Amino acid sequence: MAAVTTAPDTAAAPARTGDTVLDVRDLRVSFGPGLDAVDGLTLTARRGETVAVVGESGCGKTLSALALSGLLPESATVTGSAVLDGDQLVGRSERQWRALRGAKVSMIFQDAATALNPLMSVGAQIEEVMAIHGTHGRAARRARAVELLTSVGVPDAAVRARSHPHQLSGGMRQRVMIAIALAGSPDLVVADEPTTALDVTVQAQVLALLRESTRDAAVIFITHDMGVVAEIADRVVVMYAGSVVESGPLDEVLERPHHPYTAALLASVPDPDAPLAGELPTIPGRVPPLGERAEGCPFRDRCPKAREKCGQRPPLAAITPGGSAAACWYPENTAAAEDGRTADEEGTP
Ligand SMILES: Nc1ncnc2c1ncn2[C@@H]1O[C@H](COP(=O)(O)OP(=O)(O)OP(=O)(O)O)[C@@H](O)[C@H]1O
Ligand code: SF4
Ligand SMILES: [Mg+2]
Repeated sequence: MAAVTTAPDTAAAPARTGDTVLDVRDLRVSFGPGLDAVDGLTLTARRGETVAVVGESGCGKTLSALALSGLLPESATVTGSAVLDGDQLVGRSERQWRALRGAKVSMIFQDAATALNPLMSVGAQIEEVMAIHGTHGRAARRARAVELLTSVGVPDAAVRARSHPHQLSGGMRQRVMIAIALAGSPDLVVADEPTTALDVTVQAQVLALLRESTRDAAVIFITHDMGVVAEIADRVVVMYAGSVVESGPLDEVLERPHHPYTAALLASVPDPDAPLAGELPTIPGRVPPLGERAEGCPFRDRCPKAREKCGQRPPLAAITPGGSAAACWYPENTAAAEDGRTADEEGTP
């Protein structure tokens, strides 16, 4: 489990966080009765802060991102609350969303090749966002587009701005998508696995750039990779089967995970220092598909610590003064757990 440690620059960086930009409470995305793909997402994000949302495939990460960007399919119903800088995002019409997207919230997708317009130069795509959101004057927009491309590490930006997406490498296209996402100076950037398709070296460069270039925004960074979480996050939200099972500051979650699912995710990260570490531990079983989710704790079928009480659903409860919370009747790494007491003996309901 010691495989994941906070990157030294992250640990040493001064707090860059400001006011709360995003406040999400009990957000749900449903495709019908018993089909709640997002089943209670609660998180906050402050300006300058990167909140990583992590979990296995099918846990509801992408649908959460789409809900926060107004891009869900029409078959989805959203309930709960998500307030972005004073604006309620739940229940907005597509017309109302158009006024927000780009200027207040923007999204970075995994696959720049399909997200970018193949028929327009990348510079024109950046300028388009600026034109919609108030940068007046063509020359000013052009100059700003080159500035943005330079800031995300595109060399010869004035020349590259005239390129079409297919003329650029995968890493360059991903940088262009970050530039487009930042062109309207949004308060919130939602990035869904933005570096998963890149090779390890380019991934590290793009992560560093993303962190550097989003200091004025709050970032929701979606990934299934705990190693990436350690590189980029200030805080972590762990999702399982549609709901938050643990959240807290990065170092607390990595060093003292409270939920058995978080502990299992951390244990499955390869340790780069271990010689021939042998087979990676994986979590036996699978995330229950939509429509097959039983009552009680959603992790019950896979949890080595499950007991009778786990037939009731545990609430997301505060655990540390630092802000860690977990949804488990028998959380690990608590004073009670270390004394060998159980939640029942503690008097937890
Ligand atoms: N349009 C849809 N209609 C019905 N169910 C859907 C739809 N989109 C997604 N789902 C289901 O919702 C659940 C969550 O999907 P989501 O794409 O948010 O997962 P994810 O955590 O992003 O996974 P991954 O890591 O594979 O990207 C899955 O069970 C998925 O099958
Ligand atoms: S509530 Fe029970 S089943 Fe769920 S994670 Fe905790 S110990 Fe495991
Ligand atoms: Mg996804």
